[in-house]
Amino acid sequence: MSAIMRSASLVVCISTLVTCVSTAGILYPRESESREVKSLDGMWNFRLSLPDPLVGFKERWYMKDLSKTGPVMQMPVPSSYNDVMVDKKIRDHVGLVWYDRSFFAPESWRQQGYRVFLRFGSVNYAAQVWVNTHLVLNHEIGHLPFQRDITANLKFGRLNRITVAVDNVLLETTVPQGSLQNISTNDGPKTIQTYTFDFFNYAGIHRSVFLYTTPILYIDDVDVTTNFTEDGVGIINYSVKYGGSLNSGENLSCSITVLNNENVREKITVITNDEEGLSGIIKIENAKLWWPYLMHEEPGYLYTLEIRLSTTWNVDDVYRLPVGIRTIKWTNTEFLINNKPAYLRGFGRHEDSDIRGKGMDYALVTRDYDLIKWVGANSYRTSHYPYAEEIMDFADRHGIMIVDECPSVDTDHFSDKLLKKHITSLAELIKRDKNRPSVIMWSIANEPRSDHKDADSYFK
Ligand SMILES: *[C@@H]1O[C@H](CO)[C@@H](O)[C@H](O)[C@H]1NC(C)=O
Ligand SMILES: *[C@@H]1O[C@H](CO)[C@@H](O)[C@H](O)[C@H]1NC(C)=O
Ligand SMILES: *[C@@H]1O[C@H](CO)[C@@H](O)[C@H](O)[C@H]1NC(C)=O
Repeated sequence: MSAIMRSASLVVCISTLVTCVSTAGILYPRESESREVKSLDGMWNFRLSLPDPLVGFKERWYMKDLSKTGPVMQMPVPSSYNDVMVDKKIRDHVGLVWYDRSFFAPESWRQQGYRVFLRFGSVNYAAQVWVNTHLVLNHEIGHLPFQRDITANLKFGRLNRITVAVDNVLLETTVPQGSLQNISTNDGPKTIQTYTFDFFNYAGIHRSVFLYTTPILYIDDVDVTTNFTEDGVGIINYSVKYGGSLNSGENLSCSITVLNNENVREKITVITNDEEGLSGIIKIENAKLWWPYLMHEEPGYLYTLEIRLSTTWNVDDVYRLPVGIRTIKWTNTEFLINNKPAYLRGFGRHEDSDIRGKGMDYALVTRDYDLIKWVGANSYRTSHYPYAEEIMDFADRHGIMIVDECPSVDTDHFSDKLLKKHITSLAELIKRDKNRPSVIMWSIANEPRSDHKDADSYFK
């Protein structure tokens, strides 16, 4: 069995499932009086799928503890797996690897009637996830979060197992693109991954894995846009989507409270589920605007939108979203933030660092932002893929403007199949970051070969 066939099969099987983007939200997990967040970060069992690249599927490693399938290593999550060990075989591995770990789902979660979601911040690239032998998630594109309600698959008050198969292979039909090549070495024939982009192809479970709970009827997504008037009234235009369904005869209401950055209440609005839906406008007198670093003495000012969803018979769900009030505009010659011209000073960054690769790391992020501010920059592009949500939080809070890039790099072969996935990657990125005041621009691709004849219609 060639590596090409095997890898293509995982990618193909996943892509048939994600050709249309889910309409469900992907809010960052935040604990509240109605939500518990439990991290599954830490040491996971880890195995390369070798020597037969398909062995994990043939032996159904998702049916048992990985440690019972053969020798396992301990691998940190979040982290790329490539540079943690000194073994070149792990660093240069092409194809599938497997992770698993166990965790308790508290009995109290069942007693309270919670829903339980499983959420991955990102896995590079294709991932299949099982919970207690049930296949629960398929996701193909790296650098982006994905989640699923796994309540029905959990054993409450008992030990549960989560298994993840990860494929790092890049093909002509993946975002980003790459290709596999068979070469001969002193140890015999070998398949290697090639790609034209100029950074290392790190892989693994790169960002935090969370379990979080919600009530049965829950806040699924929030959309916020902002504006302000000449006399300083801030305008927050919001729309809330809920998940789950109302019982017939049950009423729903939603209250929105805006808190300033000292947690003092500015405004409360109550809306009910009439034909207008759960949306409206909140006005804040003497609003403090979100300003970039070095454009104001208090950059990155954030309000909190406290959303409380109440129903007749269910417990309330509460979600708090940070919101910055600002406008952006362009003229032929200027970029304006809050109607003032802004000059972007900054970088194209990378998320990489030694040992952890693209693994999210708070110490590293804190240092990087300190360097950005120290050098007097106010912006960067997330070259060449979406960065961790925890990194984006810093940008919101410190007033760093972001050009938010989807993971398309050096696109060379334009096809309908690729286009679908490229659109999916952008849609998932925008859904994730749409409410962030730091994001001033979306980047749809880095250095595509736009002189190719197919490029024109592709990008249209
Ligand atoms: C924002 O507010 C200004 C001033 O009231 C108004 O002219 C403009 O149309 C508003 N923009 C949007 C997008 O609502
Ligand atoms: C609020 O946002 C919605 C959806 O984007 C838009 O249709 C509506 O016009 C906005 N309202 C105002 C007053 O800006
Ligand atoms: C829901 O609202 C309607 C209209 O206000 C009211 O007649 C009805 O009693 C409410 N239902 C419940 C279960 O409170």
